[in-house]
Amino acid sequence: MSLSRNQVLGEMGLSPQWILRETRAVARGEKRAKSSILPAPMHKAEQFLAGVAEKMPASGAERSAPIAQLGWDGLRQRIAGCRDCALCGERKQAVAGVGDENADWLFVGEGPGAEEDARGEPFVGPAGKLLDAMLAAIDLTRGEDVYIANAVKCRPPSNRTPEAAEMAACAPYLKRQIALLQPRLIVLLGRAAVHALLGEDGSLASLRGKPLAYRDGERDIPVVVTYHPAYLLRTLPDKAKSWEDLCRARALMRSLKP
Ligand code: URA
Repeated sequence: MSLSRNQVLGEMGLSPQWILRETRAVARGEKRAKSSILPAPMHKAEQFLAGVAEKMPASGAERSAPIAQLGWDGLRQRIAGCRDCALCGERKQAVAGVGDENADWLFVGEGPGAEEDARGEPFVGPAGKLLDAMLAAIDLTRGEDVYIANAVKCRPPSNRTPEAAEMAACAPYLKRQIALLQPRLIVLLGRAAVHALLGEDGSLASLRGKPLAYRDGERDIPVVVTYHPAYLLRTLPDKAKSWEDLCRARALMRSLKP
């Protein structure tokens, strides 16, 4: 990332009043054993996924178990060939995710858009440029200690919001990515990502700043919710709120103990 700090903050519409003082090393903290615990209820996500699973054909619900056994290569292949929901019909390619497979940070968006569908990488269009600026503002770089994925791996037609059943069909992939990655912190970008992973259907405004967590096996992974970059491109005043969320995420990451 060659942008200067001021350019990054300018990109986020925050310049000049927000200035980070800490260094990159402090911002990212020491690499710690990945066993941090944050108490948070997960019952809504479980209810959501169980409810949707009931409505899926038996073969749909049963497909989660083999996906949960896959390694990164197998998972990428499974996603690339997936035909488990209608979204496969119009995609150029499935977009699994990108980044450091040992990353502490996981950012989750909604689903690929046109450019992502064409290039096979998440967040490479205009929203992706803003996401890169958001990462840079907290001293992170795509691909370095950061993994980026989406709630759904195939582009919804006309970039519509993915439907609940589509997100549920794709949920085993995101869950497996999380299990393999073991991130310390998950940042959910926008309401669809929150709904897909936590089953929370409230407004983003009502969820921002709340202590949330995603349950992965025996472990609760802290979750920070913020606005989707595409929304921020349309709603400039909320960039300041997103900046607050990123600072909260950064502070949370630093506070996590081994
Ligand atoms: N929006 C998303 O949610 N994900 C992408 O990959 C691109 C745009």
